[in-house]
Amino acid sequence: MPGPARRRKAEASRPSPPSIALVLAGRAFVRGRLQPVEIAIDDEGRIDSVGKIRSGAPRRDVGDAVILPAATDMHVHFREPGGPSEAETIATGTVGAALGGVTLVGEMPNTQPPLSDIEQWREKVHRVEGRAAVDLLLFATPSDPRAVPALARHAGGFKVYLAPTTGIDRPPSPEELPGLWERLADTRLPVSVHAEDPGRFSRDEHPTSPVAWNACRPVAAEEAALEWMTRAPDRLRLHAAHVTTVLGVDRLRAAGLSFEATPHHLLLSDRSGADARFKVNPPLRSEADRRSLWEAFRKGRVPILASDHAPHPSEAKALPFERAPSGVPGVETMLPLLLSEVRAGELDLKVLVEAACDHPARWLGQPLGRIAPGHRANLLVVDFTRRSTVVGAKLRSPCGWTPFEGWEAIRPREHYRDGERIVEDGEFVGRSPGKVVRPEYALGEREPPARERE
Ligand code: NCD
Ligand code: ZN
Repeated sequence: MPGPARRRKAEASRPSPPSIALVLAGRAFVRGRLQPVEIAIDDEGRIDSVGKIRSGAPRRDVGDAVILPAATDMHVHFREPGGPSEAETIATGTVGAALGGVTLVGEMPNTQPPLSDIEQWREKVHRVEGRAAVDLLLFATPSDPRAVPALARHAGGFKVYLAPTTGIDRPPSPEELPGLWERLADTRLPVSVHAEDPGRFSRDEHPTSPVAWNACRPVAAEEAALEWMTRAPDRLRLHAAHVTTVLGVDRLRAAGLSFEATPHHLLLSDRSGADARFKVNPPLRSEADRRSLWEAFRKGRVPILASDHAPHPSEAKALPFERAPSGVPGVETMLPLLLSEVRAGELDLKVLVEAACDHPARWLGQPLGRIAPGHRANLLVVDFTRRSTVVGAKLRSPCGWTPFEGWEAIRPREHYRDGERIVEDGEFVGRSPGKVVRPEYALGEREPPARERE
């Protein structure tokens, strides 16, 4: 037992508990539903308590608006390094995210060069410093097996491309997969997979429309690659990117794997537009496929919503269809489009908050996505009476276009990051820069979500 003198000394050197800096009051999404509460935020930007708060701290009442946890978009491409000068950057992309209610992005490694070794990782972190409006979790790609152990100590996750796509020319062959899975399983990091089997692509050299593109890279190619994934070892933390059909949903749920769907595959079909702005990998599918994916999403059977934000410059998208690059922008419109579906009564708020906020944050091991003590106070204030229209030229991305031109959207009125307001009245006002984060379970602090089979 330490004597009184030593105890006093220990008490004096212990940091004092954080004090309450702000109380947000209003109807908030807490424990699965909207309820009137007060949220106490401490001076370190964490949620201290939720309920009835007795504190002299400044109090803000959001009135008729609602308070939601801010979203995580685990699939974006910000094009640094190597993007053309007119392309998206970490600076512009993260402001778009903030305005769209996204507080953490998973940034993908298919840059020029791809993020595939520790030098590239350092270069990317250097580019983030002081320039990001929200936090980033950086995915690396395991194209060089020797670089994997070092990358695993720094990167936030791995991305495996099973088919050629923007910036990726030589995907691993099916024979290489078992060895690759083993190496990645040892890292304990999340592994996101672009699942299309190029062996099932058709040889049509001149696709001229989204319908033809869908025939070129058919559902069968996605099915085959998802089947490869289900045969990977259980200890691998596997996630399928941009699943496009309910067949895929059923297969992945049966295998207990994580997966995402994008707003474009949920809301657009291969007949929504005829030009290369509607060219994306995997392709937009038939209206019947789209509708069944949407039904699965509405029922809460798609765990994660992610944008696959791929903001190609409009000049590139104006090329003839067969030569135009694949990909659509989406980080700024993802949540606003789906909040609009909630307003229209087409989607439960609970399903949306789980898919856009809670589940992706848990998958990436982040204390985000829930209004609960101990979580970061990354919150949105949303006013469902303030409807707006999506206009490509007004989005923050320099690409200046969107496949959702003219769609109704509900943009967050305010966005708090660690208790600091970074969006006010729909304008970006943030001052403290975003940082690079890693899954806390990779640091030994939290357990990764368990694999559950349906
Ligand atoms: C993405 C891009 O442009 O970076 N394109 C796309 O069509 N989704 C790459 C990718 O995720 O396949
Ligand atoms: Zn992508």
